[in-house]
Amino acid sequence: MKIGLGVTGGIAAYKAAEIVRLLQDRGIRVQVIMTEAAQEFVRPLTFAALSGEKVVTGMFSRGEEHEPNISSAIEHIAVAQSIDALVVAPATADVLAHFAQGIANDFLTALYLATTAPVVVAPAMNVNMWNHAATRANLEILRKRGVKIVEPGSGYLACGMTGAGRLAENEAIIAATLEALGASQDLSGETVLLTAGPTREKIDPVRYLSNRSSGRMGYALAEAALRRGARVLLVTGPTAIKPPSAAEVTQVESAEAMRNAALELLPESTIVIMTAAVADYRAKNPGSQKIKRKGPMSLDLEPTADILKEIASRKGSRLVVGFAAETSNALENARQKLTGKNLDMIVVNDVSREGVGFDSDRNAVTILTCDSLETIDVPETGKWDVAQRVLDQIVRLRDHPKSAVKI
Ligand code: CTP
Repeated sequence: MKIGLGVTGGIAAYKAAEIVRLLQDRGIRVQVIMTEAAQEFVRPLTFAALSGEKVVTGMFSRGEEHEPNISSAIEHIAVAQSIDALVVAPATADVLAHFAQGIANDFLTALYLATTAPVVVAPAMNVNMWNHAATRANLEILRKRGVKIVEPGSGYLACGMTGAGRLAENEAIIAATLEALGASQDLSGETVLLTAGPTREKIDPVRYLSNRSSGRMGYALAEAALRRGARVLLVTGPTAIKPPSAAEVTQVESAEAMRNAALELLPESTIVIMTAAVADYRAKNPGSQKIKRKGPMSLDLEPTADILKEIASRKGSRLVVGFAAETSNALENARQKLTGKNLDMIVVNDVSREGVGFDSDRNAVTILTCDSLETIDVPETGKWDVAQRVLDQIVRLRDHPKSAVKI
């Protein structure tokens, strides 16, 4: 998901930097658009560094020859089509007036007209400007048009006066943005315990046994759950990707460490989702020195703890969801795991298929739940969509608890 964040010229412009960070924490890409006046308050470089994206600073960015660049002249159309919401924070009285009257004389105001995405504005200005009949009338026009207005707070203002006009708290702006993005907060109040990634079982100081797992499915679920309002406790094995920064992360290596971390966090959780590709076996006697090559050798293995089974046996009123990577008889095996391990839901992926599953951004899964013999097919799509579908089923099971189907 991507939002356009318009920053206009007010003392509160610096507060937009924190808004960029909070949105990114939730996995949302941010394209910052600064008005000329905003650039008097904060340098575009600050936003470029924070957002990792080029900041739009004008309608006609100039190329090396100082000639207006033709592609930049129509960039507002491209940005308008690429964003899922336009958020303006802080929004001055001037930009509200431009939006209300449809005057498009810079990038941000042209973007407002060109986008069909939902629009959120967080006004900030002097109290008299806020109370002025012109501002009130413009706000009324915008409100009627469906623009979401995050009302400013009251207090001491930078101009020395006291009253309404302070930029709303960041949390309120983020909540309005998430709402505009259609991210319902149906997991607010829930704490989701998630395992993700592979585990590594030591053979000697330089070698280990592991599973093919990028952690992407688990991290997508973590991000999606956060965006739907949950607190997320993420227990993860080693991966090459960055976990969502709003998740509370516990890094582990071995199955034993993952088990200990998960059991310790279990009491805090209300929903458990185990996506980790836990190694099923570990070396019985891992070497303390590097094992030398001396012709054929065999490795004595012993099973690791089945974390999912152990968690499910102590689940209480929690919902417990497992994942199953199968290469044959996927549904049959998954149904057995669902009932055998006392799970509420299992998400099966057939990892024998090309291009989905391991090390891919895409996945195709079948969801089995304890209350139905019907299966839910999620045909090949991005892992983000799969995560949303899994969370939809969790919310359904939570809101309509039914007894498990007897097979
Ligand atoms: N799992 C676990 N602890 C293990 C092994 C698996 O918690 N030691 C969890 C995984 O995170 C996943 C689910 O169990 O959610 C199913 O994993 P999978 O490897 O498909 O199933 P297993 O029960 O190990 O069965 P098998 O390997 O025989 O198919």
